[in-house]
Amino acid sequence: MSVAKMPAANLKGVNRRQFLGLAWAAASLALLGQALVALFQFLKPATQAGAFGSKVSTGNIKEFPVGSVSTVRAMHGFVSRVGPEGVLVMSWRCPHLGCTVPWVEAEGKFDCPCHGSIYNTKGEVLAGPSPRPLDLYPAEIVNNELIVDTSRVIQRAQFDASQVVQFPPGA
Ligand code: FES
Repeated sequence: MSVAKMPAANLKGVNRRQFLGLAWAAASLALLGQALVALFQFLKPATQAGAFGSKVSTGNIKEFPVGSVSTVRAMHGFVSRVGPEGVLVMSWRCPHLGCTVPWVEAEGKFDCPCHGSIYNTKGEVLAGPSPRPLDLYPAEIVNNELIVDTSRVIQRAQFDASQVVQFPPGA
């Protein structure tokens, strides 16, 4: 066979069929890689340990003197020291339609800016359309640290003493 009759691509070492095969394989590998990355992102836990959506440390329990209400941004809520016995750990999400409810220190109450629901330091509804008290987060004390599980809330119809996270004696 003379050089003039050989396929042009053969002169460069790869013919058209081989080139298309390689291109197809490269594109398939790229798509497979993208699919694996997307699958990994999907399966990876959405929250990091210590961030909202998981267990959050609010610090030493001595930081919550009797009668205080502390806004804890990391847990999207409040720690209310309702008495010497312990605290209520509440979400700042309004049970009415979900607005963020601020603590108004000067007035000693939670006052939702959206539709005017007002709550006392135990999260009980004093006024407005809210159907129930502020929701609670499950919490526990570990080595004098208040650990709050922000992965879920506990709805309640009213306050009762069993909702208080008990502090160790003398805390
Ligand atoms: Fe708070 Fe409506 S969202 S009162």
